Amino acid sequence: MEESPLYRWLHLLGLLALSYLVLKQVWTLLIGIKTHILSRWWRTNLKKKYGGWAVVTGATDGIGKAYAMELARRGFDVVLISRNVEKLQKVAQEIEKQSRRQTKIIQLDFTGGSEIYPKVEKALKDLDIGILVNNVGMTYHSELKRFLDVPDINKSVLPHYVSTNMTHNMDTNILVKTSNDYAQEALNTVGYTHRTNGCLSHCLQSYILDHLLSETIMTFLILHFISDYTINLMIKKLKVK
Ligand SMILES: NC(=O)c1ccc[n+]([C@@H]2O[C@H](COP(=O)([O-])OP(=O)(O)OC[C@H]3O[C@@H](n4cnc5c(N)ncnc54)[C@H](OP(=O)(O)O)[C@@H]3O)[C@@H](O)[C@H]2O)c1
Repeated sequence: MEESPLYRWLHLLGLLALSYLVLKQVWTLLIGIKTHILSRWWRTNLKKKYGGWAVVTGATDGIGKAYAMELARRGFDVVLISRNVEKLQKVAQEIEKQSRRQTKIIQLDFTGGSEIYPKVEKALKDLDIGILVNNVGMTYHSELKRFLDVPDINKSVLPHYVSTNMTHNMDTNILVKTSNDYAQEALNTVGYTHRTNGCLSHCLQSYILDHLLSETIMTFLILHFISDYTINLMIKKLKVK
């Protein structure tokens, strides 16, 4: 039986759509390989590219501390900003001992409103700042943006689970990273992408959640995971008591 022209056109359209979808997935895969696998060997030389000091907010624990330590290992002098002076001094000593880089500490509570920023401005005035890791999460505060002129870096890092105080130091596994591994992998991706989940495991999690699972399954898994996690946490707390 002769195929109608309409059928042939629809067939062609279907093939084009399928090719587009396949190419899009292949492209995503290639970008992922470049960003998360090849970048381990072909790292951007951050110190050479951005130079100067690195400023890390929330630098005394978890992801921020891991970033500060890793940036020092990669040759940066580091400004550490957090609320607790003792913790700041301890991390500064660790960096100076391990990486022989200079440190400067700024004791600051970011919930303090706009009056805290002149203090930051004064402390950073004479420093050549190459990198800002804005880890405390006050990213869009217009005043901070005004004080720190770092036009070359504009990267947003969106982690899934990293084992830190914030996540009650949950056990690490293929899905949950240590803060050190996370910071190391995330810094490898600088220069490769402007928006990332930071590490291969978290990018794969996002890909699966965004592309392969329907919203219903995703909601079920998230609720299931959260309720399990909350119950385990309550059991842990009751045992401690
Ligand atoms: N861990 C995760 O799974 C995860 C996932 C997604 C996003 N994040 C984000 O990543 C960032 C770091 O999380 P984390 O897990 O590393 O947390 P964390 O281990 O609790 O560390 C938080 C750090 O921020 C400092 N800090 C907290 N509040 C502050 C404030 N008001 N002013 C100044 N410093 C402050 C703390 O030091 P002091 O107590 O000395 O001030 C500490 O150094 C947060 O923005 C969090 O939302 C984390």
